[in-house]
Amino acid sequence: MDKQVEISIEDLSEPLTYPAEAFTSPEYARAERDLLWPKVWQMAGRLEDIPEVGNFLTYNIMDESIIIVRTAADRLKAFYNVCPHRGRQLINTPDDVNSVRGRKPNFVCGFHGWTYSLEGRNTFVLDPQDWKGALTEERTCLSELTVDTWGGWIYINMDPDCEPLLDFLGDVARILAPFEFEKMRYKWRQWVVYPSNWKTAIEAFMEPYHVAGTHTQLLKYGEFYAYSKAYGKHGVSGFDERDPELRKAGGTSVTRAGGGKGSDPRISTYELARENYETVNYAASTETLVNAAKRLVDELPEGTSGQDVVKHWLASAKADDAARGVIWPEITPEQMSEAGLAWSLFPNQTILQGVTFALCYRVRPYGDDPNKCIFESYALERFPEGKEPKTDWVYAEPTAEKWGAVLAQDFSNMQWVQKGMKSRGFRGTLPNPHQERKVTNFHRVLSQYMGTAAPRLLK
Ligand code: FES
Ligand SMILES: [Fe+2]
Repeated sequence: MDKQVEISIEDLSEPLTYPAEAFTSPEYARAERDLLWPKVWQMAGRLEDIPEVGNFLTYNIMDESIIIVRTAADRLKAFYNVCPHRGRQLINTPDDVNSVRGRKPNFVCGFHGWTYSLEGRNTFVLDPQDWKGALTEERTCLSELTVDTWGGWIYINMDPDCEPLLDFLGDVARILAPFEFEKMRYKWRQWVVYPSNWKTAIEAFMEPYHVAGTHTQLLKYGEFYAYSKAYGKHGVSGFDERDPELRKAGGTSVTRAGGGKGSDPRISTYELARENYETVNYAASTETLVNAAKRLVDELPEGTSGQDVVKHWLASAKADDAARGVIWPEITPEQMSEAGLAWSLFPNQTILQGVTFALCYRVRPYGDDPNKCIFESYALERFPEGKEPKTDWVYAEPTAEKWGAVLAQDFSNMQWVQKGMKSRGFRGTLPNPHQERKVTNFHRVLSQYMGTAAPRLLK
């Protein structure tokens, strides 16, 4: 049997390998139900979905369904979605609905009418005397679990002894705090049942090492040599900005669009901003940033340096946003730089943040099928108060038309990775020790939960 050798975050810079079993084995997928999901903090939704007392949403993970309900202006509760009488789901959660939402004064079970307050207390049993006094409050109340929030997201944890959410997030919460995600709102949200393991899918968004091979249309805009860094269970990646002037101006990190590469930075800045916006389903930039970039060629003389172009661009976009009631958060260039480009929160939440927007992913297993997942992507943005769009989860086939050209390129890899890894000719993974460290860190942490062998040195 494999001796379990723990590896540390420092070891991740060494060439490591881990087997494909985690992606392909039905036994492994079933084991996750007991060893992984009930032990981790999971992002279950956004606060904006349950603004009023009595608003609830459901979050399903494998066989489990959870109800999160607002019980007061400043309080949430989370319950397992099951009636203590004979086990009916309190809220029906059909497979073709991403998350059930609604508003109720209390929860009434559809089977025999037992009723529960928003606080989870039983308030009605038909003919309770038949139980001869055995129906205590503890037997008839809903089963509660831990819920907390960060950045406008709602998180649940099924482990009664779990560490606090902020401890679990660690440096992530500190580094991303300046972006004030809690002030952003959904711009759109889409989901699809996709033919790969959930880890195959989430890993496609953990490293920019694939940009050169997958998103080839972006290469004309610059170099995409990535760094990849672990923060505890989580990790961040970004591009090493080789141009210190651009880094000082806060280039790539502010806008996800850098200064662009080309002889006239006024034009290349606009082209990259537009490309990012249009091909990543209107999520990797904002209309304000794109419009301000479009004006650069009129507002600045020919020969303006890349750094001055970016400075001017950001200042005018910031002013445009302020004029329509969208105030940019104060983020120093050092904070921008530390925040990098793309965060992976263990196990399955991805955040690619910009100054007024974020592109996010979440991937969940589909039942215990190792070859299927529930893939979700959504865009957040700061909107003027009262101008937030009304959005809901939209089921969308994985095409360029529905998800944008860039996402479609990612989709065009994931299912074939899933198939390829099953080959007896596949000797195990060879992740890049510098640019794919987040992926290796993910497997380091995963192996701790699953009790399987940690990634091991390639020798
Ligand atoms: S199962 Fe809910 S009231 Fe009977
Ligand atoms: Fe990609």
